[in-house]
Amino acid sequence: MSNHNFDNKVSADTYLCHGPFDPEVFGGVVNPPVYHASTVIFKNCKELSERHQALFEDAEDEIMYYGRFGTPTTFAVQKALAELEGGYRSLLVPTGLAACTSALLALVKAGDHILVSGSVYGPTRGFVNNVLAKMGVSTTFFDPTIGSGIVDLFKENTTVVFTESPGSQTFDIQDIPAITKIAHERNAKVIIDNTWATPLFFKPFDHGVDVSVHAATKYIVGHSDAQMGLITANKETWLAIRRFVYLFGLHAAPDDVYLAQRGLRTMSLRLERHQASALKIAKWFEERPEVEQVLHPALPSCPGHELWKRDFTGSSGLFSVVLKPQYSKASVEKFIDSLEYFGIGFSWGGFESLATPFNPRKDRPEYHWPYEGEAFRLQIGLEDPIDLVKDLDQALRHLEG
Ligand SMILES: Cc1ncc(COP(=O)(O)O)c(C=O)c1O
Repeated sequence: MSNHNFDNKVSADTYLCHGPFDPEVFGGVVNPPVYHASTVIFKNCKELSERHQALFEDAEDEIMYYGRFGTPTTFAVQKALAELEGGYRSLLVPTGLAACTSALLALVKAGDHILVSGSVYGPTRGFVNNVLAKMGVSTTFFDPTIGSGIVDLFKENTTVVFTESPGSQTFDIQDIPAITKIAHERNAKVIIDNTWATPLFFKPFDHGVDVSVHAATKYIVGHSDAQMGLITANKETWLAIRRFVYLFGLHAAPDDVYLAQRGLRTMSLRLERHQASALKIAKWFEERPEVEQVLHPALPSCPGHELWKRDFTGSSGLFSVVLKPQYSKASVEKFIDSLEYFGIGFSWGGFESLATPFNPRKDRPEYHWPYEGEAFRLQIGLEDPIDLVKDLDQALRHLEG
């Protein structure tokens, strides 16, 4: 990871220590302070009207106007994240789900048709089915491994393709360059949920994506103590995204933004550990007789590995395991309940390991799932991987089949 070139000038590791924040702007303090703000005072009415115009019409730079539109704390973190992702500008919003839904809402209108990956994060699917459908936007869910075959799914009114690579729980890698090429030939925009890879391991804008969204709640915040969403746009989509976020009233609270700012400093270092430990444990699972398939894109045995190798520069700490069919659901639950260091919970990307069972047959009706056995997802935290392996080993003894 340390070799990763940031902007061809300096590595991301060095950028995260020295690049994003200018101490001179903040009285020599190395971290931007937290501004708590609602009211912002203008020198005179002329300044007020100029800033209003800049905010909604020119919309190029960060404008101090009213607390809801951000403060120097927000602007500093947004700038750092836009640079890391390689996008034009970024906005922070209150949650990762709000980042997914706002990017979609900003780019669609009634009567549109959109294409959404079948392995998309469950609540994104829920939003599309329950909210966008009511607004007159129709959706076709597609097989995430479809690649350039997506061409056949486009309709006259298809305006957006929503991707997530790797997909939630099943870790299918999508051929993003093939999808963006076809989408752009048809004047459609491509959004990616880039949470798993983080801005360090997948550069969405180098692969033609228009808008990248993240649950910054995960690796960016990194300590399981705040929720945050990130939307990064290219120049073409920026105004639409910004206008939508501002008019919808989305605001990331300053103390939470500070936690994202603090998380950024150590993100690369944390990911190095998440990556190494998850790979070690995924390989260990590959050798276990109870296991049918390990779904970790960095393993050559994982479907999609070749695409991962082509497009990604690393892997994070989240992967899934499919067991052989003889183990019942109750038995897999007993295995998970027996784990000492793995909490049963959702918000991966923090310091602690987690385990959750899942069933893609139930959650994704149109999605082809080739395995018969039960599956679970693991988030590998920052514990010593030797202790985690010992824990997994003792818990696997509870499997009965
Ligand atoms: C891939 C992905 N996208 C988006 C989200 C939503 O993030 P948040 O919980 O911050 O709303 C999650 C949360 O688990 C996720 O896994």
